[in-house]
Amino acid sequence: QSTSPIIVVANRLPFIVGKDENGKPVRKQCAGGLVTAVAPVVVETNGLWIGWPGVFLEDNLEYIPESSPNDKSPTAGLKSEQVIPVNLPRDQFNAYYNGCCNATFWPLFHSMPDRALFQADKWEAYLSVNEEFAKLTMLAVRRVIAKEPGVVPLVWIHDYHLMCTANFIRSACEAEGITIKLAFFLHIPFPSWDIMRLFPWDDELLQNILGCDSIGFHLEDYCLNFIDCCHRRLGCRIDRQRMLIEHNSRTVSVHPLPISIPYERFESLSKTAEAVVKNNPEEQILLCVDRLDYTKGLVHRIKAFERLLEKHPEHIEKVVLLQVAVPSRTDVKEYQELKEELDMEIGKLNGRFSTPNWSPIRYIYGCVSQEQLAAFYRDSSVALVTPLRDGMNLVAKEFVACQTKEPGVLVLSPFAGAGTAMLEALQVNPYETELFSEVIHRAITMPKDERELRMKLLRKREKERDVNFWLESFLKSVNCYTKTSDSEN
Ligand code: UDP
Ligand code: G6P
Repeated sequence: QSTSPIIVVANRLPFIVGKDENGKPVRKQCAGGLVTAVAPVVVETNGLWIGWPGVFLEDNLEYIPESSPNDKSPTAGLKSEQVIPVNLPRDQFNAYYNGCCNATFWPLFHSMPDRALFQADKWEAYLSVNEEFAKLTMLAVRRVIAKEPGVVPLVWIHDYHLMCTANFIRSACEAEGITIKLAFFLHIPFPSWDIMRLFPWDDELLQNILGCDSIGFHLEDYCLNFIDCCHRRLGCRIDRQRMLIEHNSRTVSVHPLPISIPYERFESLSKTAEAVVKNNPEEQILLCVDRLDYTKGLVHRIKAFERLLEKHPEHIEKVVLLQVAVPSRTDVKEYQELKEELDMEIGKLNGRFSTPNWSPIRYIYGCVSQEQLAAFYRDSSVALVTPLRDGMNLVAKEFVACQTKEPGVLVLSPFAGAGTAMLEALQVNPYETELFSEVIHRAITMPKDERELRMKLLRKREKERDVNFWLESFLKSVNCYTKTSDSEN
């Protein structure tokens, strides 16, 4: 299905602009879920991507390098002219990104209000940076129209960093007589009204999100939370059943659109990836892959694993917990403290249970490639995906896609969005340490026929509902099919 060019607006560009050993600007990959899911649609529709290049104005690195010939990432086909960098001074960016996005919205939207800071100057910085993104989006809008007169550009804004860009774009377009479609997708949970009302500028925030025509969340629950907030805070007329909101004489539609993964890419990576080195062929790997974030429940999981080894010493020297923890938001105090706590807990547990030939936890503090991840996914007996709260969680889906050899077991928290549909996983509440340790035991010892059956059903669903399905559902939701198929809609 071909569409008009899509203009993606996201906090990050799909790569970081860095320097090679000769000081020449190069693209450095930072493939996360958002990039893997959205980059192909920008490449295919010859669209544009507006985002932060990972450097500051002071770094004087303003031009966008082309991708290198051996680039195999999802953004390899993205030409530099399709990319508009948002170059900001370090202080302004830090106030917006660390001060507001990561210290306010991230904890609040994950229903952890005690961790959230509410600071007027950081909120001001957030609004000013959102306006800056909007200005650069207008460059893209004008470019698309100049190339294809008569087209209605589709602007797709992503995530909690940019919840206040839509109205700036809308007013600029109105002033210039441009018709556009504005869509927004939130990659994290949307909290209930009880939590949202703690944010001192909640009315302004909600009105800004409503600047879009179409708003997507992963789950129906998040959609209903948003609709409820608009009703209670702004008094909007709503249609809960059809998920419509009346605001400023416009009708805004809300859609549950659970994001997914490029299933076939992961499945095929798992078929060619090199085997993971084990201490002995019988060793069972319990795999954990997370950004080092307090929402991911890393410490809760270590405690459950410790309890498992206390209660079931038969697993000593037989299982290994492999933790990949990706450094994240390292300038924020909460993240620094979590790193210290995790290091300490892992050290304590390894000190307590290690034997001369074995340590219970292998700990990688760093980012590994998707090729390497595919090998970990395939060769692990169990994946422990046990966040305290998570919008969706793609790791759970990637693990399933890579189960191309001996079927493993997925242990999943119901507090991850993925838990809503992946019902054949073993569900566990990460706060219940005792039960958690028993569920790990059950996963390790699950008979093969049960593993096979569960995994078969999980794989079938994820294969059908992959990232292409998500993109098609999104395009349907904004009703933006090609000019040729417009007449059919
Ligand atoms: N990831 C990666 N290398 C790593 C760890 C994770 O490329 O070392 C990728 C992983 O493949 C997944 C994404 O990072 O696509 C993490 O997405 P998820 O939804 O699980 O969590 P998020 O980090 O977005 O909260
Ligand atoms: C989550 C957010 C993304 C974000 C990613 C990594 O998945 O939804 O928008 O890019 O975390 O966080 P970072 O702060 O490094 O961009």
